[in-house]
Amino acid sequence: MNRNILVAVAWPYASADIHVGNMTGSYLPADIFARFQRLQGNRVLMVSGSDSHGTPITVRADQENSTPEEIYKEYHTRFLDLFQRSGLSYDLFTTTHTENHFKVAQTIFNALKENGYLYTETQEHWYSTSQERFLPDRYVEGTCYICGYENARGDQCDQCGNLLEATGLINPRSKMDGSTPELRETEHFYLDLGALQPQIVEFLKAREDFWRPNVIRQSLGQILAEDLHGRAITRDLKWGIPVPVPGWEKKSLYVWFEAVIGYLSAAIEWASLSGDPESWKDWWYNPDSKSYYFIGKDNIPFHAVIWPAELAGVGTTFGAFFDEDDSRELVLPYDIPANEFLNMEGKKISGSRNWVVDGLDFLSRYDPDPLRYYLTANMPETRDTDWEWAEFVTRNNNELVATWGNLVNRVLAFAHKNWDGVVPDPGELRPEDQAILETIERGFDTVGELYDKVKLRAALTETMRLAGEVNKYLDDKAPWFEIKEDKENAAKSIFTAIRAIDSLKILFSPVLPFTCEQLHGILGYEKPLFREQYTEDVSDNLGTHTVLRYPVGEASLDWKPSEIQAGRAFHKPKPLFKKLDPEIVEQELERLG
Ligand code: MF3
Ligand code: ZN
Repeated sequence: MNRNILVAVAWPYASADIHVGNMTGSYLPADIFARFQRLQGNRVLMVSGSDSHGTPITVRADQENSTPEEIYKEYHTRFLDLFQRSGLSYDLFTTTHTENHFKVAQTIFNALKENGYLYTETQEHWYSTSQERFLPDRYVEGTCYICGYENARGDQCDQCGNLLEATGLINPRSKMDGSTPELRETEHFYLDLGALQPQIVEFLKAREDFWRPNVIRQSLGQILAEDLHGRAITRDLKWGIPVPVPGWEKKSLYVWFEAVIGYLSAAIEWASLSGDPESWKDWWYNPDSKSYYFIGKDNIPFHAVIWPAELAGVGTTFGAFFDEDDSRELVLPYDIPANEFLNMEGKKISGSRNWVVDGLDFLSRYDPDPLRYYLTANMPETRDTDWEWAEFVTRNNNELVATWGNLVNRVLAFAHKNWDGVVPDPGELRPEDQAILETIERGFDTVGELYDKVKLRAALTETMRLAGEVNKYLDDKAPWFEIKEDKENAAKSIFTAIRAIDSLKILFSPVLPFTCEQLHGILGYEKPLFREQYTEDVSDNLGTHTVLRYPVGEASLDWKPSEIQAGRAFHKPKPLFKKLDPEIVEQELERLG
């Protein structure tokens, strides 16, 4: 036990609000996994931040007549709010717009350059003479050279769906002011993926057997079908991290090249904020530590190919370049359990068409645990899944309320009333009592293994099945009748049920942290199961940024069956979940579109 586990979570672009699809794609599974590993007594470091650079941010700033800095801060602030309300327990959620991240990203760039994995090449790109700058692909529109559609974007044609080379557009015009751009030569740095291919293939082959098939297909599968070639990692863009080469200061590192470096820089920032500046090395230089990357399927190539290539290319030189005398290798990803997509009522989620359920908007009407429950029960782990409001209501009412919530409520309310708020003394347990407790005990192995393998959906289903077993046991024993004939037998049943509930609380808690914490308190525990997140302002030479943090605490092994004893005082229960009126389905459907 006591392993070091890095939970690396996709960095959301700070240019759009987060919806339920984003949540179930990467942020929520990461949190469930992190909470489970903490309960196992492991040292978890869960990091991410706002992806604050690149054209998504500048496009939004131009649309809203604002600045990239204001845009990223506005969305970043709302991310922090959403993550606190939905219980996403980042040890650090920061941003890419920090002095620390600039330094780490530039260090990786310099180390790759030193090791011979970068080269430069000159190519033609669209240049706006009116704005005196190169235009990113998304800023140029024109006629598609494949199908003739007149409003194709530089990167893709919405009519024929083909990815385009922006320089091929016919009748190009700038999206900014409609002016006609011209082709000009510009020089960029390229990451030599061809030279790194053998190392990447070796890395992927070692993981082929246990990675999700879609992740292997989109990494190893594609490389074996077609060799890798160099990729431009700089851009003619002002908003971003300056290229650290004399004469190149006006160009920026490509947003994807630097955003993935955030997993490393955020660990370094976390360590310095935590008062032990060297501690990031326990995750990043420790060959026994394991890193898990939680992302959506659209991010697979960047995490399974480009990021490992950056790390492999840096090899043992990061330390020397970062100004410390460590020459160990940075740890490569252990697993990348990428999820597929969540659709909405049978159609693809679309922010611009309002075919979406926004995270903060949802939480203004409903509680976080039902959201986490439904998104986990429906998590697109192996295929695309669908959000349906009707199903949300049924699952809430039939599973959360009827199976789990009512079990807790009827047992604890009955026990509180008949035994004056203390756990009754069962005397010797009957074989049936022991049998159900053993069933639940085995759940710590079976459910634990599922969580550990990131089969979160199955872990939740199995836990709910176990709750159903306890319900069956209770229906069978019927302590509400037993008590009329023989209070001792009723005490055995109720004691057994309380122990089972106390255990189920742990099994459910990674998915349902708020209500399990509430139940934990009802059962009279003083030390909470989880800790509480908080925000903090950090200043550096780029200004001030707010971060979200999860307090560092002692490791404790709570992933074990209940040992609750007779005589323990507990509180009168309050319902953990609310039954939802089926009428909300119509109301919610009306909000869509
Ligand atoms: N911002 C990207 C997205 O939302 C994800 C970036 S993950 C990172 O698709 F690691 F590259 F930052
Ligand atoms: Zn086309």
